[in-house]
Amino acid sequence: ALYAVIPAGGSGTRLWPLSRAGHPKFLHPLTGTDASLLQATVDRLAPLAAPDKVLVVTGVAHAVEVSRQLAAVPVENIIVEPSPRDSCAAIALAAAVIARREPEALMGSFAADHLIADGPRFIAVIEQAMAGARQGLLMTLGITPTRPETGYGYVQCGGPVGEGSVLAVEEFKEKPSYDVAESYVKSGNYLWNAGMFVWRVDVFLAELARQQPQLYAGIARIAQAWDTPSREEVLGEVWQNLPRISVDYAVMEGAAAVGRVGTVPGDFGWNDVGDFHTLGEVLAADNAGNVVVGQDPSGKQSVLLRETENLVVVPNSGRLVAALGVRDLIIVDTPDAVLVCPRDRAQEVKSLVDDLRNKG
Ligand code: GDD
Ligand code: MG
Repeated sequence: ALYAVIPAGGSGTRLWPLSRAGHPKFLHPLTGTDASLLQATVDRLAPLAAPDKVLVVTGVAHAVEVSRQLAAVPVENIIVEPSPRDSCAAIALAAAVIARREPEALMGSFAADHLIADGPRFIAVIEQAMAGARQGLLMTLGITPTRPETGYGYVQCGGPVGEGSVLAVEEFKEKPSYDVAESYVKSGNYLWNAGMFVWRVDVFLAELARQQPQLYAGIARIAQAWDTPSREEVLGEVWQNLPRISVDYAVMEGAAAVGRVGTVPGDFGWNDVGDFHTLGEVLAADNAGNVVVGQDPSGKQSVLLRETENLVVVPNSGRLVAALGVRDLIIVDTPDAVLVCPRDRAQEVKSLVDDLRNKG
């Protein structure tokens, strides 16, 4: 059995105006169905992790919506963090809570906001990663890179470990510079880290204690108070002083340097839904390449396209969105903001939002 931990924080600014601090991307139906990315993540894991083995770590602002969307997950499995401390603290707290129930449990950490096209293949890859985790490795899922993306982590593959498809990882490099990323992709020997991990909770916590003693000590204090009346008090006091660092920098880079990381290559149609263009690439398109994302909450006909090509349209306001004779555009309609931009400039939405924030 597997505990499935889902750290759900971060807001996804390149998906503005759909994704907002108050309503981040994992809560949205960006899946081509009416399930949100978070709901799809939990559903996809159902063959391995029953709802009572799913733990979500999220912020105060999202906890109510998270438990509403995940009605089958027991409320005590929705862990509410007092403030964002990046992924390491969130994942470590979940690991420590699981370790109290079952000290040698296998745990997977799954990003809240990824799309995966081939669910059965994904489950098969996780099962292989579980085999590597039982052997004491911190397992990553590796994706064949298609471009020198600087927003991802990279793993350098070594030889096979044991039977099955587990490979040793010789180096883990989080968010390299463009030149370095380019050399990795050219070498043919690196995979993207999909941002999903599988390990034994005791192995992970030992590696955390070795590399991040301060973070570990804080988490251990919170875990000790977890089933006592002073939980909230200790959490409130300790959490704010935890280092704000992602698990990739905090644990994975250093664990790979001492040979404790493995990977399973997994080509299951992975997309991290960073921006509207890549979202348009994975969802089903009509014959002219137009993609309509999500379901309008009102259920009315929400989009009318005539002689358009290669559009990504996100109707999210209840209004009708009509387009005529245009191509290669992103059109996002929300109740209080509309975005129109060329598909090949989807990355620049982030700087647009930065400008907005600086002005307002
Ligand atoms: N609870 C909580 N609190 N969750 C958080 C926080 C936080 O403060 N910060 C991030 N998370 C969650 C996100 O919601 C997501 O599910 C996961 O942790 C990863 O965080 P991101 O902020 O999305 O990381 P990233 O995209 O920059 O990089 C990671 O994912 C890439 C693949 O998409 C890394 O693991 C990279 O190595 C990887 O390539
Ligand atoms: Mg991400």
